[in-house]
Amino acid sequence: MTIKKIITVPDPLLKEISEPISKVDSKIRSLLDDMLETMYEAPGIGLAAVQVGIPLRLIVMDVSWREEDGNKEPKFLINPKIVSKSQKMSSYEEGCLSIPEQYAEIERPESCIVEYLDYDGKQSTLKAEGILSTCVQHEIDHLNGILFIDYLSSLKRNMMIKKVTKSNKSKKDRVIA
Ligand code: NI
Repeated sequence: MTIKKIITVPDPLLKEISEPISKVDSKIRSLLDDMLETMYEAPGIGLAAVQVGIPLRLIVMDVSWREEDGNKEPKFLINPKIVSKSQKMSSYEEGCLSIPEQYAEIERPESCIVEYLDYDGKQSTLKAEGILSTCVQHEIDHLNGILFIDYLSSLKRNMMIKKVTKSNKSKKDRVIA
């Protein structure tokens, strides 16, 4: 398994619509394994393939994992599609590995049902509630070129992008030998 580089805003690839997978083969599974390792290492609870620079409709998630206890329950979603959403909304403070150290409260449907192909290419259904519902919606947004900051005012959004750009620039100037 390989840790991949996570791209950050304002990389234009993050605005692209990812392509569906036509065949779940060993190449796709190996990419999913790399994505999972990259997500745990980051660390994060969800990652879309486009965030490692590959615009394919692939997501990995693990909302139960915490560094302290190490219990892992990974989920792999291929070509995920939201088939229903609750009227009831809930809000969580969201962050994104592609927008480091920026957070905002985002309101989304409290529960949703997602159809997808699993790691073995089998048709599956996920009934997501609470934090899992928010996470899967956040990740599916990535596949459609949408970031959580797109739900904020343009003023807030631009401020966050500027902060990330500035911090990346100052990192580049560092000499770590
Ligand atoms: Ni994200």
